[in-house]
Amino acid sequence: MRREVYLVTQNKGKLQEIKNIFAPFSISVKSIYEICDIGKVEEKGESYAENALLKAKAGFAKTGEISLGEDSGLEVDYLHGAPGLYSARFGGENASSEDKISLLLQLLQGVPREKRTARFVCVVALVWSGGEEIFTGVCEGYLAEEPRGDGGFGYDPIFIFPGEDKTFAQLGSEFKNRYSHRSRAFCQCAEFLVREVFH
Ligand code: IMP
Repeated sequence: MRREVYLVTQNKGKLQEIKNIFAPFSISVKSIYEICDIGKVEEKGESYAENALLKAKAGFAKTGEISLGEDSGLEVDYLHGAPGLYSARFGGENASSEDKISLLLQLLQGVPREKRTARFVCVVALVWSGGEEIFTGVCEGYLAEEPRGDGGFGYDPIFIFPGEDKTFAQLGSEFKNRYSHRSRAFCQCAEFLVREVFH
């Protein structure tokens, strides 16, 4: 069986990360927008899982191909879990990653290290002819006082991986693809695909 899946995303940073995570499983991943313009799928769910499912279902309905939807966010304890589900829209629809980072750092100004704890959460939805499944990955860390490093995307320059005391942007893609929330969720998904779908 063709080991190919389609990710419902237009985010090139995420697509590349997921291509790298799936490569050791010999699963190829493409953006669904390469074969069909399914339009923008609005993230109107009330949880990461609902949003991920909305995307995967839209992809499968239009193409009949094995479809993956993903939703992720950064939860900051001091902000009671914000921006969370709204991480992509934090600071307004048109805010850049730099704008979002500045806003977060402003809200955490003067907050000591022990209260700067945060986590990245990633939920993947898989929809195929055999049904649907959800996989969740979490990565705990804390927020830096200023951006550091130039790798990755989004909030990576301020997310410190404990133990290493460096941000994801400093640690680089190989490290991130081993320990990130996205790696944890997509590795479970890849194992499921190999075990239950591609046989
Ligand atoms: P969405 O999953 O497309 O709704 O986007 C989630 C938001 O969280 C985006 O603004 C991302 O920048 C941010 N985000 C999700 N995962 C990561 C990550 O691995 N690194 C940095 N930012 C992330």
